[in-house]
Amino acid sequence: MPNSFKRLDAHLSSLGYCTRSEGVKFLKMFRVCIEGVRVFDPRLKAHHDQITVDDAPLDPETLTVVLHKPSGFICSHSDAGKLIYSLLPLRWQRRNPKLSTVGRLDSDTTGVILITDDGALNHRLTSPKSDIVKVYEATLAQPLRGDEAEIFASGTLLLHGEKKPLLPAKLEVLSPDKVRLEICEGKYHQVKRMFGAVGNRVVALHRIRFGMYDLQGLGEGEYKVLS
Ligand code: URA
Repeated sequence: MPNSFKRLDAHLSSLGYCTRSEGVKFLKMFRVCIEGVRVFDPRLKAHHDQITVDDAPLDPETLTVVLHKPSGFICSHSDAGKLIYSLLPLRWQRRNPKLSTVGRLDSDTTGVILITDDGALNHRLTSPKSDIVKVYEATLAQPLRGDEAEIFASGTLLLHGEKKPLLPAKLEVLSPDKVRLEICEGKYHQVKRMFGAVGNRVVALHRIRFGMYDLQGLGEGEYKVLS
């Protein structure tokens, strides 16, 4: 719970500074202070804000970052391949509770993704009831045929395997084979399946916005902590 007293070794290990068993060794390295006073006893308790490591404030107790996902990284903790978390500092990768992506992007999709260890926030943003707007730019294999915007806006498009039609989505044509698409659901492979349903194929997909968050000038693989 934020702002309660924490036992040093438990708190530092939950933030990824050390493992629980390394706590004693870590404190012996003269790295930890409580209110500016060096401390060595892992059993001491303090408020999060009173503790420093190497004279720097601790990482936030709950951490949420916006990341510009590059292609080729997987939004999973366990699949084989390059995991999206490997783009973050090692200390953050060791946090407990773990950081998790807010929803998923396909391995070949680039752009905005939020990563958080705030389970309640993650649940709120990904719940089927959430109507967070996601904006994508897609490059298509074939030029548009002309009726896609109307079909996507109709609220009647039923994707293969789904019981309910998709909510209306807004399509903006950027060029004959490039579009911007605004959706407020997050069904599995939704954008690719939407274009599949109108006889086309997405060859590149980039998310430019998730709710109020955009890329904020971040380059591929770069991230920013959200307050
Ligand atoms: N829709 C897709 O098809 N893929 C993504 O990665 C995101 C939305």
